[in-house]
Amino acid sequence: MEEKRVIKGVERGRRFEITVDGEKVIAYEGETIGAALMAAGRRTLRYTNKKEHPRGLYCGIGLCQECRMVINGVANTQACKTLAAPGCQVETQKSDKKRGV
Ligand code: FES
Repeated sequence: MEEKRVIKGVERGRRFEITVDGEKVIAYEGETIGAALMAAGRRTLRYTNKKEHPRGLYCGIGLCQECRMVINGVANTQACKTLAAPGCQVETQKSDKKRGV
């Protein structure tokens, strides 16, 4: 997949993998899960409860709640505020109905 990160003039921390819906995604130390997913070209982070419409990163600063995902088994975790760490298990959050909530 094409690299979507700024490369020129940027120093990054250690590179590692996280697992997103069973697939490996590259992340770097100091990067949020939301940023790693955008760099990987993943735009859908959750589905709405009423109409199951896809939602993704919007404000990127913890205000809109659109980026809620299941991160390490915890639903409604904001991907834009959660730092990626080696071994993170991330799932696209389905509607409450589909999750049986
Ligand atoms: S993108 Fe708005 S709270 Fe995460």
